[in-house]
Amino acid sequence: MQYEVVLPAAGSGKRMGAGQNKLFLPLLEKPILMHTLEIFERDHHCTGIWLAVKPEEKAFIEELLERYHITKVKGLPAGGEERQHSVHSCLKAMEQVEIVLVHDAARPFITQEIIAQLAKVAYEEGAAIAGVRAKDTMKKVRGTVIAETIERDSLWMIQTPQAFRFDLLAEAADVAEKVGFLGTDEAMLVERLGHEVHIVESSYENLKMTTQEDLLFGEAILRKRVN
Ligand code: CTP
Ligand code: MG
Repeated sequence: MQYEVVLPAAGSGKRMGAGQNKLFLPLLEKPILMHTLEIFERDHHCTGIWLAVKPEEKAFIEELLERYHITKVKGLPAGGEERQHSVHSCLKAMEQVEIVLVHDAARPFITQEIIAQLAKVAYEEGAAIAGVRAKDTMKKVRGTVIAETIERDSLWMIQTPQAFRFDLLAEAADVAEKVGFLGTDEAMLVERLGHEVHIVESSYENLKMTTQEDLLFGEAILRKRVN
């Protein structure tokens, strides 16, 4: 199943505390952003990449694309204040396609198998998101006191990619913008329209590089994969 991918890359990486966009930090000498881009560059089902960038970082990113021979990027629209705005800016710039994936540029370990499964379920059902089962006991806490222990069997930790029929996500993003709804993922926008979203079991290795220790885990995953 062919698809185009939107990669929001216009964050500042505050929790990483590196004083720059964390996507430029290296994992085994290659910037995180380039690890992610190479996955989609190599996936034959991916027919186009849309990268939301900060305008002041655009020239540097274009240099990186050349240096790492990334050829599938169709546009680098300006990102927005929040991640959702950055994604929307790409959706507005795109031509109509059948299936669109949204994937955090900060998740450089997604596999082609999971991508293919998501694209397939999105084609059949409209919306499919990657997630893994919660491993720890989950409790709701008020202040410092346990309010409730939540039954774990139905709890999933949600990741990206999130895959959709393009017109469904485009409509959901337009509606969210119109009413000023801000979600923490794309699925929330589609759920609001009353549309079912399906889960595809992903991998615990599909980490988002968020804080400093993630870089250590990330390098360990890369070392394991090259050996
Ligand atoms: N992102 C974006 N536009 C924003 C905020 C985030 O395109 N306004 C992107 C980030 O570049 C990242 C992805 O969305 O690839 C996931 O966001 P997150 O991990 O939160 O990254 P940052 O926002 O950069 O980090 P932080 O929240 O710690 O500042
Ligand atoms: Mg953020």
